Amino acid sequence: MKTQVLDKSQVDIAARILKNGGVVGIPTETVYGLATDALNGEAVKKIFQAKGRPMDNPLIVHIADYSDIEKYNLVREIPESAEKLAKAFWPGPLTIIMKRTDVIPPEVSAGLDTVAIRFPAHPLAQQIIKAAGTPLAAPSANLSGSPSPTTARHVLNDMDGRIDAVLDGGASEVGVESTVITLAADVPRVLRPGGVTVEELREALGEVEVDDAVIHQLKEGAVAASPGMKYKHYAPKANVLLLKGGDEAYISYVNAHAADDVCALCCDEDLLLLKVKTVSLGRRGDYLTHARHLFDCLRRIDENKTICTVYSRLPSVEGVGLAVYNRLIRAAGFEVIDLEAL
Ligand code: TXA
Ligand code: MG
Repeated sequence: MKTQVLDKSQVDIAARILKNGGVVGIPTETVYGLATDALNGEAVKKIFQAKGRPMDNPLIVHIADYSDIEKYNLVREIPESAEKLAKAFWPGPLTIIMKRTDVIPPEVSAGLDTVAIRFPAHPLAQQIIKAAGTPLAAPSANLSGSPSPTTARHVLNDMDGRIDAVLDGGASEVGVESTVITLAADVPRVLRPGGVTVEELREALGEVEVDDAVIHQLKEGAVAASPGMKYKHYAPKANVLLLKGGDEAYISYVNAHAADDVCALCCDEDLLLLKVKTVSLGRRGDYLTHARHLFDCLRRIDENKTICTVYSRLPSVEGVGLAVYNRLIRAAGFEVIDLEAL
């Protein structure tokens, strides 16, 4: 299959491919998605093939207006809390899980009685959903297990020849995937941290729980509330090690382990102090920028085939920092070296 690269003037071509049951890489403000018609189960199957994704991992359904939930009869009822969330954060990087209707094909819900819905803010994402005339199922457009793509080039690196087209909408603003919150539990619960912070959700809703799997490794035999959280994820090919401790301790530890095959995933302020290859997430404490650059940094590290070990600081769990923490701790297979305990 030849993968066409489309620009923003070619939304109509992308929409035609989607209407005909094809797969298109689309830009969103979080990361690029791999989209198909969410109401066409046969088309949705192609996503799992292209990504090599396990069939038990459900997909997010993307809409272009809040009223699409009723228009397409996607959920059994819209809870009051969903209305509040939609008012506060949509369009934007928030995915809301509700009880689904039978309109949702089993390929999308992966056997669950719920559906995840998101109204993305990216104007091209909205245009393409509207032009396709159907909600779009879209996981992140990476090969399963790899870092999510934040540019059309990232999508092509993983998907060239596996999908019909990719629509180039520039680099994704947020850089990490949407926050996933379920309203199907007694208390609203965050299953995946992302662009909307837990602090912001609590301001809008009051009580909000954070699922244990967000920062901890799932215990053996435990069932994941969000199937995606149980897989090793976001991992570059090199071995990622997270270091817990102050800035000076981080720099001296990395310098003491300097070698040709070592790289530091660091901040701008560290660049002159480190004696190894470096890739910077941005200025210290600027978590929004760290989130925006994270996946591109992990992919750049992979492109340098000589790098075997990556040392990164354990991120903060504040604000969008929690999303970076969640992705990096998975990339590291939950391995953290406590520098204060050494
Ligand atoms: O920002 C995003 O959310 C991007 C863009 C493309 O919109 N999409 C994305 O999709 O990250 P994906 O498939 O890579 O991640 C969706 C996550 C997975 O962890 C999946 O298990 C979970 O959401 N999920 C989807 N439907 C669910 C459901 N009904 N119940 C529990 N978890 C669900
Ligand atoms: Mg993903």
